[in-house]
Amino acid sequence: MTDRSNLLEKKYRAEADGLASAPAGYSGRVTWECPSNIALIKYWGKKAIQKPINPSLSFTLQKSVTSLSVDFLVHKADHELTLEFLLEDRPHPLFAERLMKYLQHVSQFMPFLKSMHLKMQSRSSFPHSAGIASSASSFGAIALALCSMEQKLFGNLRSENDFFRKASFLARLGSGSACRSVYGGCALWGITPEFEGSTDEAAIPVTDAINPLYANYRDSILVVSSGLKSVSSTTGHKLMEEHPFAAARVIQANHNMARIKQSLIVGDQHAFINLIEHEALTLHGLMLSSDPGFILIQPDTLEIIRKVRYYRKETGTPVGFTLDAGANVHLLYPANNEKDIHGFIEENLKRHCENGLVIHDQVGSGPVKIL
Ligand code: DP6
Repeated sequence: MTDRSNLLEKKYRAEADGLASAPAGYSGRVTWECPSNIALIKYWGKKAIQKPINPSLSFTLQKSVTSLSVDFLVHKADHELTLEFLLEDRPHPLFAERLMKYLQHVSQFMPFLKSMHLKMQSRSSFPHSAGIASSASSFGAIALALCSMEQKLFGNLRSENDFFRKASFLARLGSGSACRSVYGGCALWGITPEFEGSTDEAAIPVTDAINPLYANYRDSILVVSSGLKSVSSTTGHKLMEEHPFAAARVIQANHNMARIKQSLIVGDQHAFINLIEHEALTLHGLMLSSDPGFILIQPDTLEIIRKVRYYRKETGTPVGFTLDAGANVHLLYPANNEKDIHGFIEENLKRHCENGLVIHDQVGSGPVKIL
């Protein structure tokens, strides 16, 4: 399926002329806290520009968040965009370079950025060494902060809907999965006949459509490895372009989207668990069968999976796993099974985690504007 319309891009381009001249000397500060998210139906493979080859769906987390403060100053019009970036109070030249390119790219929709000085200070609630993808929460926070600046300067993003839609559109251009983090609960990105209003250009919130059982679903993140991944997501997405199973994967993802929607509506946890595990194993199967193939899971990942499946079979407890693009395992389960599952993790799974690190998170209500 292709997004034929580019409706949002056209709209934001058309509106850009009115967002060019901010008053020189104007300064301010905006601060946002944006959560990470965990995909249930995985985004894996993209087409131009930064659009997914298949729709994806995720739970937004609560505790795993990035906080971002932006101090901004409008220079004179002939000035160039300048950026200072601090991660956990320290310069991070690599991310600053990526961020600068991103800001230059999105300035076509926010021309006022071209004559700004920005000081961005970012910190995450989760340890940076935890191996949790921080690009979703980081670009979510960045996009929200940019929209707050636009709103302060021009007052044009009046409705909540307009505000978050533009933030999701901009977040996507930084990192695909980030567009889903802009909404709490459950978010969908990519065109699918299953959800009205879906688009490849931004995520949409779908929490209202699903069973309240999932509103406070738990996600315990078992940190198997905190090291830098041997192959980045960006490279993994690229390898899908020539992947022999790409066409079949798109069909499968669309099919799984229809099935997970049903399980989310009726609260069928058996179907839900089957689907999330199927998606996680498929994601890593696609990595294994890329050319060149690559392996991000580790022996402890497989050991955890084996134990979770055994525990579920033996006890009937509704707990399933999903994987991010790395070795870590996310265990998803209902709030009322928390006590038993925490006990199971402590006794059986913690030993497979690096330094015993487990982050107990849950589905959250979305980003918070601090300032
Ligand atoms: C496996 O969003 O990190 O987590 O768009 O290149 O920044 P870029 O990729 P990214 O890919 C995430 C892949 C995934 C699945 C998902 O979150 O849907």
